Amino acid sequence: MFASRTNWLLTPNRLSREIEELRRKRLPLLDLTESNPTKCGFAFDKQAILEALANPQALSYAPDPRGMLRARQAVASYYAERGITLDPGRIFLTTSTSEAYSYVFRLLADPGDTILVPQPSYPLFDFLAGLNDVRVIPYPLIYDQGWQIDLPALEKRLQPDARAILVVHPNNPTGSFVRQSELAELLALCQGHDVALVADEVFADYSLAADRQRVVSHAAITEALTFTLSGLSKISALPQMKLAWLVVNGPPQHLPGGLARMEIIADTYLSMSAPLALALPGLLETRRTLQPQILERVASNLHLLDARLASDQPVSRLVVEGGWYAILRLPSIRTDEEWALELARKDGVLVHPGHFFDFGSEGHLVISLLTEQEVFQEGIVRILTRVASSA
Ligand SMILES: Cc1ncc(COP(=O)(O)O)c(C=O)c1O
Repeated sequence: MFASRTNWLLTPNRLSREIEELRRKRLPLLDLTESNPTKCGFAFDKQAILEALANPQALSYAPDPRGMLRARQAVASYYAERGITLDPGRIFLTTSTSEAYSYVFRLLADPGDTILVPQPSYPLFDFLAGLNDVRVIPYPLIYDQGWQIDLPALEKRLQPDARAILVVHPNNPTGSFVRQSELAELLALCQGHDVALVADEVFADYSLAADRQRVVSHAAITEALTFTLSGLSKISALPQMKLAWLVVNGPPQHLPGGLARMEIIADTYLSMSAPLALALPGLLETRRTLQPQILERVASNLHLLDARLASDQPVSRLVVEGGWYAILRLPSIRTDEEWALELARKDGVLVHPGHFFDFGSEGHLVISLLTEQEVFQEGIVRILTRVASSA
């Protein structure tokens, strides 16, 4: 009855079942995985958000495959503040980054073609690729006092069926940005193998410290056909608005064809609703009051974590440059799944096991730095007590 691309494992895993059971029993839980910004106690400008959604111009229909020009101009201004000049004609509005990925995969890949994705990274890639009949080939990020792309390993995985190299900037959950030196090598690989670059920059505004060696944005790249994805789910902490975009850029031999084909894909769906497109400029503006709150939460949670880890602890944290997550390294006397299960069951603390993000080895737990501070503090104390009593 069903297509093989939907042959997912439909039964919940052990950890999800356990958490469901704890919730059913209404046991108090400290959720250190909370990364829904609308549930983390931030002060949103409610009036500005609601006013942005009530534009009378939404009463008429004037379809544009790329999405309303005024909204794309607001996106172009967002990049202009980063020193990047963009023609709004290269911007396509979408209802999510996920939808943008689908457009890009449909544009680039035939069934069975491959897309190279970082490992560890965002768990949704397998699903997004599978739904578009594309295969994901992971390339390793290696950790040595900081994360870097294993470029020789990436090159080996670039087979003739490869269509794109995907980078997440900064990556979820490692919080690592692409460096300019890495980008130069990635572009040489894209040119040499005739593949595109796809850059997910949804967390790009959440940098913990400036670093000149980092790429500012991939949106202005012209050396290879490049798709840069971002949106309001992280920029303005409004995932419920379903507003995102992709920027197409590249060399003259690929760019016109890429834009023309992308226009037909976008025209087929015309998925951006008028009220949302009209709201985009106002909703994008609300980032100015939201981002400082998030950056402050992330920095103070990290500070709190470091203060707890300062004494001789069997737990450490990996270097984080940006994003909303921290990675804890624990003794590998248990699997990540077992640590997460034990913490949930015995301590009422919820964490992500590393395998959720496809870590290459055991001993990693991922926690959200958006977590409200009291919950975060108590959760960390319980994790450290549990590990100390187990080691
Ligand atoms: C790397 C990355 N890209 C995209 C998204 C989601 O973006 P959207 O809500 O626009 O689909 C997330 C959400 O966590 C993410 O971690």
